Amino acid sequence: MSIVIEDLHKSFGKKDVLTGFSAEARDGETLVILGGSGSGKSVTIKHIVGLLVPDRGRVLVDGQIVAELSQEELFALRRRVGYVFQFAALFDSMTLAENVGLGLRRQRSSSDAEIHERVSECLALVDMEGFEDRYPSEISGGQRKRAGIARAIATKPDYILYDEPTTGLDPVTKAMIDNLILRLSEELGVTGIVITHDMDSAFRVADRFAMLHEGRCRFYGTPDEIRTADDPVVRGFIEGRPELMENAT
Ligand SMILES: Nc1ncnc2c1ncn2[C@@H]1O[C@H](COP(=O)(O)OP(=O)(O)OP(=O)(O)O)[C@@H](O)[C@H]1O
Ligand SMILES: [Mg+2]
Repeated sequence: MSIVIEDLHKSFGKKDVLTGFSAEARDGETLVILGGSGSGKSVTIKHIVGLLVPDRGRVLVDGQIVAELSQEELFALRRRVGYVFQFAALFDSMTLAENVGLGLRRQRSSSDAEIHERVSECLALVDMEGFEDRYPSEISGGQRKRAGIARAIATKPDYILYDEPTTGLDPVTKAMIDNLILRLSEELGVTGIVITHDMDSAFRVADRFAMLHEGRCRFYGTPDEIRTADDPVVRGFIEGRPELMENAT
């Protein structure tokens, strides 16, 4: 099971966001995608579930070209890919139990009691037991973020895409989410992609890194390789030293 991004091109009007980005999340691994704000990280992962279609290049999940799937195949794919959206994206009119159980109800393979149990289990995994009957407007931003993660894992997907899962969380909650990401990867063998600006989190969860810069892949490699990379753009980014990046070509 893998996600392969090949020579991805995407423009919006005159704005060329991706100009040949390639990267791969290998079977059972966690790929961390790094890149500045607005570099196209969220745009990239939206192609994986067919929310966006490439202008050129392709994305393969399990060897299948996403843009060539029929509507039915695409829905089947989405059931296997958990997606933690950057901005939680919970339905305001539904309780947390209804939000988290949405994918399970759509699958129609579980009884109400089973769904109830799985929802409670997933809320507990993100340290939110007892929040079943709350509405999104009644919880904090960080709790909404965690509820979004509970929803993404509820169907036990083979793949999980995390778009900034720990941004805005306090250090303790952040470490808890990092540990959850690790556990899903190690115990369940989930293949994952994590977008994050937080280098501590990144190094905690990554098996491999891809750095998106000016529309392309500037670096692809292991944590050890990125630690010792001498490309000033990579160094500047991971060390938070923009002066290194400015004069680089
Ligand atoms: N649907 C869209 N229509 C037009 N432009 C878009 C659309 N989606 C994204 N963009 C533009 O594409 C660029 C990349 O956006 P994207 O959301 O992928 O950035 P990002 O790397 O995720 O940044 P951040 O770290 O701030 O979340 C931005 O300039 C954004 O304005
Ligand atoms: Mg983003």
